[in-house]
Amino acid sequence: MNKRLVVTGIALFSAIAVASMDVIKERKHGFESFKEELGAIKKIVQTGDASMQADLSRHVNNLQTVADKQWQRFDELFPAGSHSGDTDALPSIWEKPDDFKAAITKQSEALALLKTAAQSNNPGEWKVAFGKVGNSCKGCHDSFKKD
Ligand code: HEC
Repeated sequence: MNKRLVVTGIALFSAIAVASMDVIKERKHGFESFKEELGAIKKIVQTGDASMQADLSRHVNNLQTVADKQWQRFDELFPAGSHSGDTDALPSIWEKPDDFKAAITKQSEALALLKTAAQSNNPGEWKVAFGKVGNSCKGCHDSFKKD
C-alpha cells in the first residue's frame, strides 16, 4: 500500500516535472522571438532611414503579437514552481506577482509608444521610443531573470 503510494507519487512528480520542462522550453522559445523582432527593429532604427517606416511598423506589430501571445498565456507558461530546472526565471516572479505584472504593463506601454512612433517618418522619434522598449526588457530581466 505504502509502496504503491510512493510509486504513484513518483509518477505524478515526474509528470509535473516533465510538464514544467515543456512550458519552460515553450516560454524560452517565445522570448527568443522577442529577441529576434527587437533585433530587427534595432537594425532599422539605427539606419535612421525614414524610408524604412513600413518595415519598422511591420516588425513592431510582430513584436506586439509575440508579446501578447506570451503574456496572455502567463498562467500556463509560468506555473508555480517552474523556476527550477533549465530556466533563468527567478522565484521573485511568483513571490512578487504584482511587480511582475507591472513589468509586463510597462512593456505594453512602451510598445504602444513605439507603435505610434513607427507610424511617423521621424527616425528621431523611433529612437527615443525604441530605447523605452529596450529598457522595459532590461527592467524586467534585472528583477526576474538570472544574468
Ligand atoms: C515582464 C518580464 C519580462 C519582460 C518584459 C521581458 N522578458 Fe525576457 N525574460 C523574462 C524571463 C522571466 C526570462 C527567463 C525565462 C526562462 O528562462 O524560463 C526571460 C528570458 C529571455 C530570453 C532568454 C530566452 C532563452 O532562450 O533562454 C531572451 C532572449 C529575452 N528574455 C528577451 C527579451 C526581450 C528582447 C524583451 C523585450 C522586447 C524581453 N525579453 C522582455 C522576462 C521578461
